[in-house]
Amino acid sequence: VSNEQAIRYEPARLEHAEIFLSMMRALEGADPGTTPFDERRRRAIFEDFTKEASFGRAWLIFAGEKLAGYVILTLGFSFEYRGRDAYIDELYLEKQFRGRGIGRKTMQFVEEAARGLGVNAIHLEASQGNTAAMELYRRTGFVDHERRLMTKWLTGTPT
Ligand SMILES: CC(C)(COP(=O)(O)OP(=O)(O)OC[C@H]1O[C@@H](n2cnc3c(N)ncnc32)[C@H](O)[C@@H]1OP(=O)(O)O)[C@@H](O)C(=O)NCCC(=O)NCCS
Repeated sequence: VSNEQAIRYEPARLEHAEIFLSMMRALEGADPGTTPFDERRRRAIFEDFTKEASFGRAWLIFAGEKLAGYVILTLGFSFEYRGRDAYIDELYLEKQFRGRGIGRKTMQFVEEAARGLGVNAIHLEASQGNTAAMELYRRTGFVDHERRLMTKWLTGTPT
């Protein structure tokens, strides 16, 4: 991508399911999550998500005409964070689009979108060894705190 190439964000629609799923699979390869990737479930979740605006927003990221990646913002609520809060649930750029400032631009874009939705604070998780992600988040104002996020599955730990 040349620097002049415009970065554009297209809101996710149901018909984008296969595009999202293929990039989600690639993200899982680049940054394995805590739960195994289950394509069938993911597709169903994507369908639910695109139908229900209160769950959050997702966008495809384009550099000029080329698909560069995707980002997902999910919405929550917290007394501690003074009302609406949100998670950057997933952020992925295809290899050839990394390290060119698109991550930073996308963080700005998502922050603006979140403000527009009345969000007070954005959270995210980053894997220890993922330097690019850690640097991006640190440099866009995210701070680590002396707390651990703990999780209990109510539907059984996925295998
Ligand atoms: C993580 C990711 C989104 C970062 O986006 P990016 O477009 O490559 O990052 P940018 O080019 O905007 O860089 C942002 C900042 O981080 C720094 N940075 C980026 N990659 C870096 C690396 N590998 N090592 C050190 N610093 C790095 C840049 O120097 C830049 O700093 P600056 O803006 O102050 O100059 C992208 O690399 C990616 O999609 N990786 C694979 C998927 C993934 O790991 N997603 C995150 C899951 S939590």
